[in-house]
Order: sequence, then structure tokens, then C-alpha cells
Amino acid sequence: MHDLRISVMDRCNFRCPYCMPRETFHDSYRFLKSAERLSFEEITRLARLFAALGVRKLRITGGEPLLRANLADLVGDLTALPGIEDVALTTNGVLLAKYASELKAAGLARVTVSLDSLDPTVFRDLCGGFEELEAVLAGIEHAHRAGLTPLKVNTVIQRGVNDAGALDLAARFRGTGVVVRYIEYMDVGNRNHWRPELVVPSAELHARIHARWPLVPLDRTYVGEVAQRHAYADGRGEIGFISSVSQPFCGDCSRARLSSDGVLYTCLFATHGLDLRAPLRAGADDEELLELIRNRWTVRADRYSELRATLRASAAQEPKVEMNYIGG
Ligand code: GTP
Ligand code: 5AD
Ligand code: SF4
Repeated sequence: MHDLRISVMDRCNFRCPYCMPRETFHDSYRFLKSAERLSFEEITRLARLFAALGVRKLRITGGEPLLRANLADLVGDLTALPGIEDVALTTNGVLLAKYASELKAAGLARVTVSLDSLDPTVFRDLCGGFEELEAVLAGIEHAHRAGLTPLKVNTVIQRGVNDAGALDLAARFRGTGVVVRYIEYMDVGNRNHWRPELVVPSAELHARIHARWPLVPLDRTYVGEVAQRHAYADGRGEIGFISSVSQPFCGDCSRARLSSDGVLYTCLFATHGLDLRAPLRAGADDEELLELIRNRWTVRADRYSELRATLRASAAQEPKVEMNYIGG
């Protein structure tokens, strides 16, 4: 266990159809009440225990994490934890222009911004009808200038939806220091109408990009890295491919996920998690919590992406945890 992803907020200011479709997340959808979400003290205490068990990287996710009030305070507490070497944040970018400097000052190392298209119409459809493309681009700009680097842009490609404009992102960010990472569309959660035909395999995208700007493969920077990195042969930076459908990487998965209500999930596609909030609020001491986490992690045998076809075909499919609870 090397990497802990902490969702701090189940709400979002977008309604991306593949994550929080409007038909489900409407005005009367019951989001968590604030008392149901872990407090900053509770998150920090758990993160300290995870660090004691080997976690070195923390990633703050949502929903949209920047909707959580005073997030910079949490960042400050997390970056100060012994053993933690890297604290990053994944955001849709809309609120970055507002918060980038504050987050940097609190100790945040870097941000990853989700951005699936540079075409205003496609962007609007993909985020559920919001005219926020310029705000996201401004957010990236602010974060970059604030030094929240290396700044990465996550782009989920769906065939027939945004694949035609995929190279626009590479073109825009080449030579700027921003790293674009293309993610194969996955069947996360239960509501995104995923079909295998919608997946554009990384190999296909790589070929398109390589034909225009030759690429050179790079070594991975750490065991369990999800992105396959490539440099532009002309020295204009790098891009990445996250190919969890065509080339699953469950074998060296070292990621744990904590939902905003304190449930520990050992896979992005988990159907069950371990509630840590109940023992935490019932007064469990550190040793008891460490034991719970250790026991859960040592019995995990998750390899959903490797078994996708078989598991999807089985009649008794249980609902998976939703994206907005565990942040990807
Ligand atoms: P860096 O620390 O910058 O390398 O970040 P990262 O590689 O952890 O990337 P990030 O957190 O941005 O993850 C990118 C995306 O990869 C996630 O949002 C998911 O869509 C996907 N991903 C991350 N972890 C897993 C995983 O364990 N399984 C699968 N199937 N996909 C994952
Ligand atoms: N497949 C692949 N990536 C996804 N993300 C959200 N839903 C999916 C999906 N179905 C990405 C977001 C964001 C990150 C947290 O996960 O675009 O960058
Ligand atoms: Fe929000 Fe991210 Fe889901 Fe989009 S993908 S609705 S930005 S949580």
C-alpha cells in the first residue's frame, strides 16, 4: 500500500454523464450531510495511520474537492504528516483560479485537472451543460503559474464522443510543461452506460499521435505507476496513456481509496468497502484502527480490470461503488 486517494466531497459542480449523470444527480438527490463526511481531523488521523502502514502518496479527490470549504487547511495538515512525500489534488479545474495560490501556500505539490475536450460544444455536453471551458483553462493557467507542477490533464476518450478532438489537447499543451494523459473509458460505477465499443484503445491513440509528433517511450518513475509515459521526440515534453481496459495493471496496484464518508475501498470497482468511520467515532484507538486497515489490505485480491469480461458477464453482478464517492 503506497498510495491513498481521499475523497473529501461527494458533490460536484459538473454533471458529467459518465460520472454524475443528471438523471440520477438531480436537485433532490440525497448527497451526504456534512456530519456524515469525515471531518478534517478524522481524515488527518486516518492518513497518519495509513502513512504508518507504508503510504507515501496522498491524492485528494471528490466529487469536486474544491467544493469542500477551507480545503487548504486539510492540505496543510496532510503535507505535515510524517512519511508523506507527495500530496496532489484531482479537480475539474473550475475553482482553481480562485484557490491555486492558497493551495500552493498550504503545501500542495501539484494538481491534475480533468479536461476531456477543447471544443466548447463537446466540452459542454461532457460536463453536463456548463459553459465553463474558459474557466477550466484559466484554472490550469493559474495553477501552473502558482507552481502546482508537474501539472497533468486527464482526458477520458470515448469513441464517437470526443475522440475526433483528442489530438487538440496534445497540440495545445505540447511545449507548455503540462502533461496530457489519455485515459481509456472505464465501466466505473453503475450508471455510465459503458460499452466496450466506446473504448478507444491507447494503442490506436498512440499511433495517431505518433504519426503527427513522433513519440519515444519513457521508463516508469515508480512501481505501480498507472500511466505509460512517452516523450515527444522533438523535446516538447511528455504525454501519458492510462490503459486499464486494454492493458490492465492490477498486478502491481498499490492504491487504497477512502470515500468521503470514511469507507475504505481496495479497488476502483469495489462492490464492498470497510467502514472506518464507525469505529473512529466509537472511540477506537490507533492500534485497533491499524489492525482493521492492515487486515483488510492483506486479504485483498482485487483484479477487476483483468477479469472485466467475465465479471460483467456474470448474472449476479453487484453494484459497484460510484465514482463520486471515491474520485477515480
Ligand atoms: P500520478 O501520481 O500523477 O502519477 O497520478 P496517478 O497516476 O495516480 O494518476 P491519477 O490519480 O490522476 O489517476 C489517473 C486515472 O487513472 C484515475 O483517475 C483513474 O481513472 C485511473 N486509475 C487510477 N488508479 C486506478 C486503478 O487502480 N485502477 C484503474 N482501473 N484505474 C485507475
Ligand atoms: N473512465 C475513465 N476515467 C474516468 N474518470 C471519470 N470517470 C471515468 C471513466 N468512466 C476520470 C475523470 C477524472 C478522474 C478522476 O477519473 O475524468 O480525470
Ligand atoms: Fe465531477 Fe469529476 Fe465526476 Fe466530472 S468526473 S462530474 S468533474 S466528479
